[in-house]
Amino acid sequence: MLLLMLVATTLRLCPLARAQPLCRIRTVRTGKVFHVREQIQGDHLYFSSGTTRLMKHPCKKNIALYLGRQVFLTKNSFESSVLPFSIPTSMQVGIPEVTSAHFAGSVLLLVVNRKVYVYDYEDNSWNASTGVEHPVSHISGDNCCYSGNSFCMDISNSVFAYLHGDQISQANIYFSNTRGYRFQKYSQERQAELVGSLGGIFYFYSLSQVGLLLVDQRKAMFSYSDHPLNRSFGLPFDYNGTLDILIAPGQKGILIFWFEKSLLVSRNAGQLVNPVQVREGPHILYSSISEANITIHSVAANENELAILTQENNLYYGSLGILSSSLIKFADQNIWSEEAVLMFTDVGMLEILTPLPDPTSPAFDFQKCPVNIQAILMDPQLQVDVCKVELLQGEFENKMYTIDMNSELELTALMIPRPSTSPVPLVMVSNPHSLGLQAVIYEDGYTYDGNTKHRLNISLRQQQHWGRADPNFTSSIKRPTISTITLDIANKEISCLDLKPLTALISVGCDLEKKIVIQNEISACYNGILDPVALQDNYSYVIEREAYDPSFRGQKATEDLEVPYHYEKLGCPILVYYDTPWKPVVELWRAGKFQEVVEAEYVLLEVNGLFTYTYSLTADMALCSSQPQNWTTIAKTAGDKGPFAWDRENYVSCHDPNNNAPLRWPKVPYQILGGPTENKVVFDQRNGIYIFFISIVDPYYSYCHLETTFSVYVYGAFPLPIFPPEITIVLLTGATLLSVWLAYMIPKLLHTEQGLRVKGVWVSLGNRLTPFSRLEYFRGGCGWQLPWALQKRKADESLAQGKFLPISGQT
Ligand SMILES: *[C@@H]1O[C@H](CO)[C@@H](O)[C@H](O)[C@H]1NC(C)=O
Ligand SMILES: *[C@@H]1O[C@H](CO)[C@@H](O)[C@H](O)[C@H]1NC(C)=O
Ligand SMILES: *[C@@H]1O[C@H](CO)[C@@H](O)[C@H](O)[C@H]1NC(C)=O
Ligand SMILES: *[C@@H]1O[C@H](CO)[C@@H](O)[C@H](O)[C@H]1NC(C)=O
Ligand SMILES: *[C@@H]1O[C@H](CO)[C@@H](O)[C@H](O)[C@H]1NC(C)=O
Ligand SMILES: *[C@@H]1O[C@H](CO)[C@@H](O)[C@H](O)[C@H]1NC(C)=O
Ligand SMILES: *[C@@H]1O[C@H](CO)[C@@H](O)[C@H](O)[C@H]1NC(C)=O
Ligand SMILES: *[C@@H]1O[C@H](CO)[C@@H](O)[C@H](O)[C@H]1NC(C)=O
Repeated sequence: MLLLMLVATTLRLCPLARAQPLCRIRTVRTGKVFHVREQIQGDHLYFSSGTTRLMKHPCKKNIALYLGRQVFLTKNSFESSVLPFSIPTSMQVGIPEVTSAHFAGSVLLLVVNRKVYVYDYEDNSWNASTGVEHPVSHISGDNCCYSGNSFCMDISNSVFAYLHGDQISQANIYFSNTRGYRFQKYSQERQAELVGSLGGIFYFYSLSQVGLLLVDQRKAMFSYSDHPLNRSFGLPFDYNGTLDILIAPGQKGILIFWFEKSLLVSRNAGQLVNPVQVREGPHILYSSISEANITIHSVAANENELAILTQENNLYYGSLGILSSSLIKFADQNIWSEEAVLMFTDVGMLEILTPLPDPTSPAFDFQKCPVNIQAILMDPQLQVDVCKVELLQGEFENKMYTIDMNSELELTALMIPRPSTSPVPLVMVSNPHSLGLQAVIYEDGYTYDGNTKHRLNISLRQQQHWGRADPNFTSSIKRPTISTITLDIANKEISCLDLKPLTALISVGCDLEKKIVIQNEISACYNGILDPVALQDNYSYVIEREAYDPSFRGQKATEDLEVPYHYEKLGCPILVYYDTPWKPVVELWRAGKFQEVVEAEYVLLEVNGLFTYTYSLTADMALCSSQPQNWTTIAKTAGDKGPFAWDRENYVSCHDPNNNAPLRWPKVPYQILGGPTENKVVFDQRNGIYIFFISIVDPYYSYCHLETTFSVYVYGAFPLPIFPPEITIVLLTGATLLSVWLAYMIPKLLHTEQGLRVKGVWVSLGNRLTPFSRLEYFRGGCGWQLPWALQKRKADESLAQGKFLPISGQT
């Protein structure tokens, strides 16, 4: 008798119908000493359906939840006896009936008596969710196990709660991005027009879509949330009974739909749903479970395998291959009971688990019957073909990659076929809509050690950039998405158990290692115009009030502005001669390496509101067909995002034929640089430092918000003449003499008065150009102004010698 068992684990043979047993039963009975006096605290939970379910945590292999007449939560794969799970009475659930459960990261969500509760199994704390105002029956979500990736974390944090069977048009659906702690109402576009009842709602990450299952008159189909799938529905499929929906782990978009008499599988997040067939050897015996006349008791699935336990005491097994799903039947064994549940413990390893009550203790024991599929498949009666592939291996397996626009991803794999067979490798992308993502395999065979090996190079790229993607097929380029890529063998034999398909998760989005850098080949320090030592020494400069607007509307400010110069961030300013139209050379760097010069469209804004510059082109000169955006129009629509809100999300090209803003003001400056136009910045006649914010606005260049700030020193300008020429000449002469004197005196003064802090920057006027050695720019109302006569002279001389023209590429 079990009661009297003293041994923790016992082994015994099953009573057999056949010669070879499927599995040997053992019982887990441990830790009872500690439970002897334990009483079950709180309300004892139970599962609403008459059957059982087992949910494994997708990322933490030892954590699982058993749902049946009792509920059990284990943290060690049921390797010890467990008290039935209960909810504290303080939660006041009423009837402690569980209708749905879901693991979301470190919490377990339960729908108890039509309300959502959160149990943090690490802290052992309970909370009632907030925000759900109507009764719900189900909860759905997914988990992503690549920890450390923020996109991945979002997946585990997102959860839906809903009432199964509600009329879709007015169904109350709730969404949470806080792992179920707080919900808010969710509704899908066009939801009010949909006819039928709600069969479920799921976030399909592999497709970057929310899928809503509509059930109407024993048919069901998915309605998707986003372009391009929101134009139509998934294909309708039979919906007999109430289908339970499992999302297979791994974000590949594999869904399993089942109830006692029906089993269907989808490999593309519900776009196409097919019944699972039953095979014997190479022949299809039944095209569906209902035809096979079997009654499913429990379903288990992992990333690549599917198994069912039937009330007829049979175990069926199949693989969730790329092409088809079918099951084969294993020999009979008396393994079924009402409390039994089926689960995968590893690839090719199944377990039938049955909780056993113990009259001497409130904690339950567990009867386990582990099934080694590989061993069973050796049985010649099953007529299973040997696997054609001996090895399939790739470095990329279970990794996460990022693919940004204009980038490619190259993956490699190795395949070793059995001698004299020629298996066909296949590669599948779960979300081809993300910019028309397409993968191609290049295969070459070579012989090594007498074996033929096949090297597979997989190249993943986006058709959008080849100009071939159909906009009706591709999702919005503004929306980062994810996809999975899976390498598998076509029509793989069921015996290829160990030959797992190789899957990698691809985040189609910003590659965070990308940065932009502004080329600074001719810096003002290099040319000796500014002194880097002084710039680093808490340097600050003054912008006169006529030249800037703190609110970026081009109106003069009321007072001068003193601006500290952040040398560590900005380095030495780029030297720009005021009289030459200019634009920066923008470089793309990735992971510290130069990639290319950016030709995409970008915009500039002076961060202190300086408006003493404009653009060389006007809207009509830039051949705009609609009114171009500018910083003023962006600021109006950006609201509280601040003045620097122009980016790839809100940029609309004036050359875009779909842009229907009429070109009313053709003479306004065209503020977009780069791209197809030759537009440049034109500076006013004013010397000084400009600090520019730059933002790449071309939505097709990268998913990243590529932006930075950099500084420019504009020089060479002399103030507009305000005096008649004669006075000018007198003043010029006087100033020159004064300067000569100053140039002579100041070094002397400085020599003698050590410690005198002269705020400002030493500027070499070019030892070769003038007889003066060093001259100081004193800060004045006009920023960096030399006595104007000197400036003119310097400008004239440098122009004459061709020295200070902002020529690029010269060092
Ligand atoms: C859970 O509930 C407790 C009190 O009932 C509260 O202090 C805590 O903030 C809640 N936790 C979350 C994450 O809402
Ligand atoms: C599909 O979604 C896009 C945006 O995601 C929207 O602009 C479009 O109107 C939707 N189409 C339909 C038919 O609902
Ligand atoms: C659903 O039921 C119908 C009629 O009983 C049957 O023809 C069909 O095969 C069933 N579909 C599935 C997927 O079981
Ligand atoms: C299905 O199975 C039940 C018992 O398991 C049997 O009574 C019934 O006749 C079977 N139906 C068909 C169509 O084979
Ligand atoms: C696959 O890539 C390797 C290394 O990059 C290269 O040597 C080989 O030629 C490629 N094979 C094919 C078929 O492209
Ligand atoms: C996209 O779909 C619309 C409406 O269905 C159609 O008019 C248009 O021709 C399609 N575009 C392409 C490139 O197929
Ligand atoms: C710059 O200013 C800060 C405080 O404003 C001061 O702590 C620091 O010593 C100064 N650095 C130099 C080099 O003067
Ligand atoms: C910005 O564009 C609007 C029209 O869209 C125009 O009225 C305005 O003058 C422009 N502002 C500047 C500074 O060019």
